[in-house]
Amino acid sequence: MEQELNSLRGTALNELSEITSKEALNDLKIKYLGKKGLLTGMLGQVVNEIRNEIEDIIATKLEAMKQAELSRKLASETIDVTLPGRSTELGHLHPLTLTLNRIKDTFMRMGFEIAEGPEVEKDYYNFEALNLPQDHPARDMQDSFYITKEFLLRTHTSPVQVRTLQSAEPNQPIRIIAPGKVYRRDYDATHSPMFQQVEGLVVDENISFADLKGTLELFLKETFGNRVNVRFRPSFFPFTEPSAEVDISCVMCEGKGCRVCSGTGWLEILGSGMVHPRVLEMSNFDPDKVSGFAFGMGVERIAMLTYGIDDLRLFFDNDMRFLRQF
Ligand code: DAH
Repeated sequence: MEQELNSLRGTALNELSEITSKEALNDLKIKYLGKKGLLTGMLGQVVNEIRNEIEDIIATKLEAMKQAELSRKLASETIDVTLPGRSTELGHLHPLTLTLNRIKDTFMRMGFEIAEGPEVEKDYYNFEALNLPQDHPARDMQDSFYITKEFLLRTHTSPVQVRTLQSAEPNQPIRIIAPGKVYRRDYDATHSPMFQQVEGLVVDENISFADLKGTLELFLKETFGNRVNVRFRPSFFPFTEPSAEVDISCVMCEGKGCRVCSGTGWLEILGSGMVHPRVLEMSNFDPDKVSGFAFGMGVERIAMLTYGIDDLRLFFDNDMRFLRQF
């Protein structure tokens, strides 16, 4: 028995001395000390001593292996603190978003609230209730994407005027802007089939053309600087009477005349007017009690003039060389 144990101990220590991997160490542990191990089930002081001896050697070897592994890792993963760091590149808002945010901010400081409406709109809100009945020739100015006879992609943000009037208490004051996407069948350097507008509507007792002028002049000076001149030109829109096109002195040549303003010194910037009594009436407001003014502008156009961009399509190409410049 004694001899048998001694030779078992000898073989075990021999095997142990040759082991170089954790896996092999584990296998050996199972072979001698595991549930069905060679030394398991045997009793006696000598057996216990051999068991302890083997366990100790295993523990020491394991520790040595762990240390070696750690040193290897430390050696291979050294950090060169003198290398330049890897910085995360931060993005920024799109120039159109920046422009729209500035427009919203200016009007919100003047006490306007923001209203919204759907991009898929009813013919009724887009045209009919804005005093543009079926077959009205002014519909031709806005070549439209119809979805059905009744629904189209809105051609302007003006339908939000109607929606706002109709969801308000009749004759109660309104002061909103409505930013959003609009759609027309156009595509060239200054027109894209999708673009953005900001609509404005103010309704209250005694609102006059002077309020329209004051509000828009203030907005345009906030947007293009105090030196800019503003001019109101008679125009026609079916939903306003009287109507005015608003121009600013050319931001490129300061009114002297250049390529951007086609030599006129002026740039058309928005459409506006006093809300047509028919529009108020159709939405249950009483034109004898209240009056209002409205306006509409193109966000892309304002961004082009702010940043001096001559092709609107650049906004939608997603070319980083362009976008990085803002
Ligand atoms: N909806 C017009 C367009 O897209 C712009 C416009 C003109 C809006 C006059 C208005 C307005 O609210 O009063 O061409």
